[in-house]
Amino acid sequence: MFITFEGIDGCGKSTQLKHTAEYLRSIGLDVVCLREPGGTKFSEQIRDILLSTKSKINSISELLLFEAARADLTQNVIIPSLNEGKFVLSDRFFDSTTAYQGYGRELDLNTINTLNSFSSLNIKPDLTFYLKIDLELSYRRSKYRTPDRMESAGEEFFLKVINGFDEIAKNNPDRICIIDSSGKPEITFQSIKNRIITTLQKSK
Ligand code: TYD
Repeated sequence: MFITFEGIDGCGKSTQLKHTAEYLRSIGLDVVCLREPGGTKFSEQIRDILLSTKSKINSISELLLFEAARADLTQNVIIPSLNEGKFVLSDRFFDSTTAYQGYGRELDLNTINTLNSFSSLNIKPDLTFYLKIDLELSYRRSKYRTPDRMESAGEEFFLKVINGFDEIAKNNPDRICIIDSSGKPEITFQSIKNRIITTLQKSK
């Protein structure tokens, strides 16, 4: 089973992914944790380029680099792990490209959908958690970190990204589960766990 975690910076994806992995392992499942962009040597190198504040990248090159990182990760890690029956958890996947490069950078959404399917070799997450917070909370939670190149984009950009995630979730109600992530991490995790338990029961 392939599960992804999405949302804007500061939404708590990494923490929730960690709790989810711990839970799945505690019930005896084999879990692989990944992040996008990243997860292979090549994709981590692309991540460094994409997130470095020294990089000057136009929107189209940015899109293609995120897709290139995804193609490598999908082919070399995600598909082999799924074929071995493992649970794959990823901190971001193609919904981030639709939200950030499609809605945020305003690149053509049809082109992005085509590239997303191409780079992910037509696989899709079985379940996606969209951890929803507003922009103010995102800024509050990230204020002690030095922003990377993507995080340095302005407020207008992030409002478009949030609207993007909202639209993507509305268009994929069977796959995407919206979770209020504005409260305590334990409460957020309880909602995630409940949904996972239901999904596991259905897949039996
Ligand atoms: P993120 O996963 O949030 O890592 P960290 O928590 O270490 O900052 O950083 C990745 C950044 O890349 C984030 O700002 C979102 C952005 N991104 C895109 O713009 N498009 C994509 O397709 C992906 C996967 C990420």
